[in-house]
Amino acid sequence: MRLLVTGGAGFIGTNFVHSTLSQHPEVAVTVLDALTYAGSRESLAPVADDIRLVEGDIADAAVVGSLVAESDAVVHFAAESHVDNALNDPEPFLHSNVVGTFTILEAVRRHGVRLHHVSTDEVYGDLPLDGAQRFTETTPYNPSSPYSSTKAASDMLVRAWTRSYGVAATISNCSNNYGPYQHVEKFIPRQITNVLTGRRPKLYGRGVNVRDWIHVDDHNAAVWRILADGQVGRTYLIGADSERSNITVLQDILRLMGRDADDFEHVTDRSGHDLRYAIDPTVLRDELGWRPQHTDFESGLRATIEWYKNNESWWAPLKDAVESRYEERGQ
Ligand code: NAD
Ligand code: DAU
Repeated sequence: MRLLVTGGAGFIGTNFVHSTLSQHPEVAVTVLDALTYAGSRESLAPVADDIRLVEGDIADAAVVGSLVAESDAVVHFAAESHVDNALNDPEPFLHSNVVGTFTILEAVRRHGVRLHHVSTDEVYGDLPLDGAQRFTETTPYNPSSPYSSTKAASDMLVRAWTRSYGVAATISNCSNNYGPYQHVEKFIPRQITNVLTGRRPKLYGRGVNVRDWIHVDDHNAAVWRILADGQVGRTYLIGADSERSNITVLQDILRLMGRDADDFEHVTDRSGHDLRYAIDPTVLRDELGWRPQHTDFESGLRATIEWYKNNESWWAPLKDAVESRYEERGQ
């Protein structure tokens, strides 16, 4: 199988490429990535001899067309992914998430190639903090941020191209990922590297917002299950039943890193901050037999902390610039 992985130099894509090479050695992997601030050639350095890495924009129809033409399937991770960046400057999100996905769709339509589109639970908006309700495949779309609205738009394009043109596509909407190679702008790596650089962790607002955490390897295993046996035209929700408030996660990090539970700062809250995300993964479990392997959040978090301790050369060059941008916004 010849697999084209867009965004394969970002957090989830990098982990997908690494696990694909070890678990599916028969697959020939090509990565298409623009190597934006969020993409890193270094993340793919351990497998550089085993893949083809093409530096290019998913909105470039010529590049995308020629790579899709020589592929059997496309797994589409490439996107602008950070909510705070979208609030600050939405334009790149329109370009990569909407025009980029449109360009991929036109190429897979022309060449008759199978597509898996990677999306997010944020397309459903948020849930009340105190309820038991969870997102399902039939929850209406209700995105709140410039990021989630562009991901919702991309999902809509995929659904329309599937119905109108018969494109062989599946979609997955996953909850919050954690694990190695995640950019230090994101919540868990930001707090770990704040402690490692002598800064105090930063919590938005009161820290009561809830996220449903999943280890990146469990997300990627689900993507493989859907690519292999998912029903074309379907949407699958991916989640690992692991809801936690931000303050709980932060205090886990502080405890595992030997700091006091109150050794952090409350900072300006995110504008329009979604309250709670929660995924009901029943369909994925029942139909495709997927189960998360990393069910002990604390041990996954401990391993993630160890990874950041042992890979300072990967994240240290990014850290000061990220913190300056947050400081300008009072965060
Ligand atoms: P990331 O920001 O770490 O990586 C994104 C990658 O896409 C980078 O390598 C970047 O260079 C590349 N990219 C961006 N614009 C591009 C363009 N125009 N052309 C080519 N490459 C481009 O993001 P991530 O956290 O790895 O997320 C990957 C995908 O998974 C995204 O579609 C995101 O919406 C989705 N997702 C993420 C999470 C999460 O918790 N991180 C959860 C659910 C879904
Ligand atoms: O739910 C899936 C989504 O998860 C993905 O689609 C996004 O690409 C991914 O970035 C993530 O979005 P979030 O906005 O939930 O993740 P983030 O890491 O930015 O923040 C997690 C929570 O922590 C959120 O409630 C905001 C809060 N936060 C974040 C940062 C960076 C803080 O309290 N302090 C911080 O410094």
